[in-house]
Amino acid sequence: MRKIFLANFAACVVLGACADAPAQDRIEAGEQVYEEHCATCHGVKLRSTGAIPDLKQQKADGRARFDQMVMAGRGQMPAWQGIIGPDELDQVWAYVRSRAYDR
Ligand code: HEC
Repeated sequence: MRKIFLANFAACVVLGACADAPAQDRIEAGEQVYEEHCATCHGVKLRSTGAIPDLKQQKADGRARFDQMVMAGRGQMPAWQGIIGPDELDQVWAYVRSRAYDR
């Protein structure tokens, strides 16, 4: 086990063959942003209660619409402009997409 781990670790460091690691970091950061700002309405761990849109329905090509919705808000959905920065927006999107129905 340890040998395998060390070999992978070496490959990662030497060859840069660990491209998934940063993506995973982004998803985890996004989960925190989500739990802090979005979970009260959209449901803890993206478990929708039905009354408010289920974010797991976000499609891969829906990024522009997602950004627009989150930054500008609509009706009961608050605008997050000035609260959530571009990095956090990117992270929440990564988190939402990592749990999407069509991922
Ligand atoms: C105060 C409750 C509330 C909070 C907090 C909230 N939302 Fe919403 N959200 C809503 C409601 C209600 C809608 C539906 C608005 C409408 O269509 O009129 C919505 C809609 C959306 C939509 C559009 C969904 C679709 O398919 O039409 C997205 C994307 C979204 N919210 C993302 C987020 C994100 C990301 C956060 C956290 C940064 C967040 N929301 C926080 C209430 C909330």
